[in-house]
Amino acid sequence: MENKRYGHFDDQQREYVITDPRTPWPWINYLGNEDFFSLISNTAGGYSFYKDAKFRRITRYRYNNVPMDNGGRYFYINDGQAVWSPGWKPMKTPLDFYECRHGMGYTRITGRKNGVEASVLFFVPLKTWAEVQKLTLTNQSQEVKTLKLFSFEEWCLWNAATDMENFQRNFSTGEVEIEGSTIYHKTEYRERRNHYAYYHVNAEIQGFDTDRETFVGLYNEFSNPDAVMEGRPRNSHAHGWSPIASHYIEVTLQPGESKDLIFLLGYVENEQDKKFSAPQVINKDKAHATIEKLNTTEKVDMAFAQLCDYWDRLLDIYHVSTGNPKLDRMVNIWNQYQCMVTFNFSRSASFFESGVGRGMGFRDSNQDLVGFVHQIPPRARERIIDIASTQFPDGGCYHQYQPLTKRGNNDIGGGFNDDPCWLIFGTVAYIKETGDFSILDEMVPFDNQPGSEVTLFEHLKVSMDHVINNLGPHLLPLIGRADWNDCLNLNCFSWDPNESFQTTENKSEGSKAESLMIAGLFVVTGKQYVELCRKLGKDAEADRMQQAVDAMIAAVKKDGWDGEWYLRAYDYFGRKIGSNECEEAKIFIESQGWCTMAEIGAEDGMVGKALDSCKKYLECEHGMVLNNPAFTKYIYEYGEISSYPEGYKENAGIFCHNNPWVIIGETLAGRGNDAWSHYAKILPSYVEEKYQTLHKVEPYVNCQMVAGKDAFRPGEGKNSWLTGTAAWMWLTVSQYILGIKPQYDGLQIDPCLPETAKDYTIQRRFRDAEYTITIHPNGSQKGVKQVVVDGKAIEGNTIPYAAGKHIVEVTM
Ligand code: GLC
Ligand code: GLC
Repeated sequence: MENKRYGHFDDQQREYVITDPRTPWPWINYLGNEDFFSLISNTAGGYSFYKDAKFRRITRYRYNNVPMDNGGRYFYINDGQAVWSPGWKPMKTPLDFYECRHGMGYTRITGRKNGVEASVLFFVPLKTWAEVQKLTLTNQSQEVKTLKLFSFEEWCLWNAATDMENFQRNFSTGEVEIEGSTIYHKTEYRERRNHYAYYHVNAEIQGFDTDRETFVGLYNEFSNPDAVMEGRPRNSHAHGWSPIASHYIEVTLQPGESKDLIFLLGYVENEQDKKFSAPQVINKDKAHATIEKLNTTEKVDMAFAQLCDYWDRLLDIYHVSTGNPKLDRMVNIWNQYQCMVTFNFSRSASFFESGVGRGMGFRDSNQDLVGFVHQIPPRARERIIDIASTQFPDGGCYHQYQPLTKRGNNDIGGGFNDDPCWLIFGTVAYIKETGDFSILDEMVPFDNQPGSEVTLFEHLKVSMDHVINNLGPHLLPLIGRADWNDCLNLNCFSWDPNESFQTTENKSEGSKAESLMIAGLFVVTGKQYVELCRKLGKDAEADRMQQAVDAMIAAVKKDGWDGEWYLRAYDYFGRKIGSNECEEAKIFIESQGWCTMAEIGAEDGMVGKALDSCKKYLECEHGMVLNNPAFTKYIYEYGEISSYPEGYKENAGIFCHNNPWVIIGETLAGRGNDAWSHYAKILPSYVEEKYQTLHKVEPYVNCQMVAGKDAFRPGEGKNSWLTGTAAWMWLTVSQYILGIKPQYDGLQIDPCLPETAKDYTIQRRFRDAEYTITIHPNGSQKGVKQVVVDGKAIEGNTIPYAAGKHIVEVTM
């Protein structure tokens, strides 16, 4: 296997440095913090949107294109001898030097050709609805350079879905305005839209283009636009067809001279009565104001410094020094960064998620916020309320909602019976991090209906009750449309390829389909709920739920155990799934993860056996597969899971999201060596060196799925960035391996480590306190002997919360 390197980590700068533009797949980064977001690849491909990648797409992007990753924010430099782009694409002129540095909320791409360096810093400043592109041109030669520079963006007609299909309309609606060095995109502004976009540069321009075909030429490509190749802009004014924005600037550089140009891609919303400044003329006040804030190098450098400070502060909240750079860089930088990105985007926009398909997932967002809550708790709080507002009075919920409207998405519907439990999981994590119990008193509607408000606590209650009210013949939870595994469709029998497994009729009437994964999830979240009720003095409610939890444990022990592992489910007809009796897929990972996390039957040796079975049947070189053996044929009683070829996705892929469940199970059982070896297998920095070519996708973040042992190419990664893996990897390492666990009253210290672990120190900001915690492992995998806080030994292993700075020494 070819093992070429495409890049490396720079931990000092907190960057991943890509040194060859022809990565095995575009390696991307995310810009933006709250409202305005961009995706940017290592060759400057990608797009921007405001809040919602479907409804407010600002620039156009064509997925699954030929060639790959075509379209983005492009610069063309025509120096008279060559035409080139700093990010290599789209010109693909061989460069004398190329480098892309993906950092925290920014990307810097540098190219050199014929003695000129062009370096572009892309970022979205805090609290700003615009992407900055700071282009620095430097003449590194001994002669004067005269360059013709063209910028390029292609506008999307706002709705990314109809933009790609409704051409009979789209080709007639496009409208722009040009004012000085700013090109405004105002399609549909004349009617119902009150928003426009703009592309500005802080210099006088010598020309422009806004009509794509005029600029590119109908039969050309981004790599040979007529205007650029001829070095002559057309000053075109788009009417319909495909509006773009391109500035033309002539730049002369003396030997050694350097010049900055600040490009700004922005978005504006106007009040209804302030839309126009004259008939047909958009009100540009807000655009002018943003431009004014970012129109010099000094202002932009300041905004960039603020962004870097922001990330310094976020990443200071939890910082470990173990002396192992592969671990430290994931814990301190990339895993936390990916958690922020998944919190922001859920599963909506990546290079695998088109931004038009999915909104925010009920279960997904609850899990994502657990990885993010320590960073900006108020945003997690708001998210919890948004999610709970899409719930129904019986505890069921819409599976997804749209970020722009915050309304449940009817197209996907509901009935995924694991969904309600995740609300407890998310809310408890928030309260333990912040100590803010007041969130439970917030009045939250059902299905966003005014007048239906009850307290958030009440939402938690109906969530638990939803499971209790939907038990099957073995007193195990009915699965509904599906549990966490969207592709185990036990109530959907489809022979029609035109039906979607996710939304076709859910024949739950009379169904005996039960889920052991929900059973484990219910026990874990049920115990959390009981603890919360006790804390609130709601003892009767705590007792009621404890009984339900005990009953669930009993049901799992009675009808959920297969001898060496936990069953996965019962199907519609009440037949076992994930049993030694089955022909294929005898064992599944999800129920092993959740039932071991719930410690069901630990006293009878069930947990230990289940964990051993994971090692024996699910583990391979690249991680643990979802099920084994893989399905080799379609089983219409099981649905989508058996539709995938062996080793891919939910059919025996390494679906990274669920590996941490087993790893946490290992840590609870005190098996630090096993926990660590499972963890390291899917830790990107460990995969980075060995598998740059095989793995394909970004080596600095987790991907959703790595092809499993039964696949044609085991180890190949897909669906990078937007995966619950981020939050679960974070929870696993921060709380269960390194062992710092927020509790209602303080920080519990309970690491579970490999025998080889050495002393390590964690800086942890927690509410208004700052702890410096040093752990001294002694070769045992688990068990804290003594915790000394500020020189005094405490009882037990939970540091009682107290504001201020504290030094903690932990012996194991
Ligand atoms: C995807 C979905 C998630 C689901 C998982 C397993 O990651 O976003 O909701 O649980 O697949 O099917
Ligand atoms: C597909 C994917 C799965 C995802 C589901 C919901 O089935 O395989 O991972 O959760 O779609 O969108």
